[in-house]
Amino acid sequence: MLEIKGLVKKYPSGPEALRGVDLNIAHSEMLSLIGPSGAGKSTLIRCVNRLVEPTSGELLLNGRDLCSLSRSQLRLARREIGMIFQEFALVERLSVMENVLSGRLGYVGFWRSFRRRFPADVVQNALRLLHRVGLSDYLDTRADQLSGGQRQRVGIARALVQQPKLLLIDEPTASLDPKTSRQIMRLIVELVTEHGVAAIINIHDVNLAKRFTQRMVGLRDGKVVYDGPSSGINSDVLTTIYGEEDWEAESAAKTVESVGDDEDSRQAVGEPGMRTGG
Ligand SMILES: Nc1ncnc2c1ncn2[C@@H]1O[C@H](COP(=O)(O)OP(=O)(O)O)[C@@H](O)[C@H]1O
Ligand SMILES: [Mg+2]
Repeated sequence: MLEIKGLVKKYPSGPEALRGVDLNIAHSEMLSLIGPSGAGKSTLIRCVNRLVEPTSGELLLNGRDLCSLSRSQLRLARREIGMIFQEFALVERLSVMENVLSGRLGYVGFWRSFRRRFPADVVQNALRLLHRVGLSDYLDTRADQLSGGQRQRVGIARALVQQPKLLLIDEPTASLDPKTSRQIMRLIVELVTEHGVAAIINIHDVNLAKRFTQRMVGLRDGKVVYDGPSSGINSDVLTTIYGEEDWEAESAAKTVESVGDDEDSRQAVGEPGMRTGG
């Protein structure tokens, strides 16, 4: 559904952030994009919805070249592309429900959304999603009253209420503690699967990526250096992506950490208790 061909991005002030990236993602497919800070992960997904203008290359969404669209065509195309951000990007003084409904702004007319009038089916869908992410009790709570995990749940519901075909997710857990990070990743992966959307998840935490996604793409210095199953991520591959490090020691440490993790793994998302869980 998304074909990226020879994508290059050079920021005016810096070196090339992307140096010829080729990447295809099928309908309903999910992949994690890993790589060190500065590898170009954010630039890549921002090029896809043209928050960043690509320097050259092609971006085909269902065969349509996103780079050649007019402003109005781009606005329509963006409805199909949802985003979830590291810093949540909520409107602080608006309620949870209002933040989620803002995900529909690409659909309802300006005046209608200005007066915060949304069709009943949209409101119903927002309520369903908020229930699904465990926030039914927080509909009227202002965004600035929420914990980090709750804020990201709002961000997830806001992205999905738009009914996108592709989700671009940039470091969804980087502002969260480890346990909340796992809960949020699990929720994202479950919802992406339930809704049948394709998703690119930028995440620098290799262990989280391995745990939750089957396909992993490694980016280094603006180039794809690995594209394959998570089972293929070994110390050699990690060295290619991140450079020299003692990966055996790293994964041994993670194994020990995950021993105390059983309670978390069993806890189904959406069950009581999750609401206070982050
Ligand atoms: N707005 C910008 N202006 C200039 N350089 C930028 C900008 N955004 C990112 N870069 C540079 O592009 C490279 C890739 O950055 P980024 O895409 O943010 O990587 P990542 O998300 O993997 O950490 C880095 O060298 C970064 O400094
Ligand atoms: Mg980034």
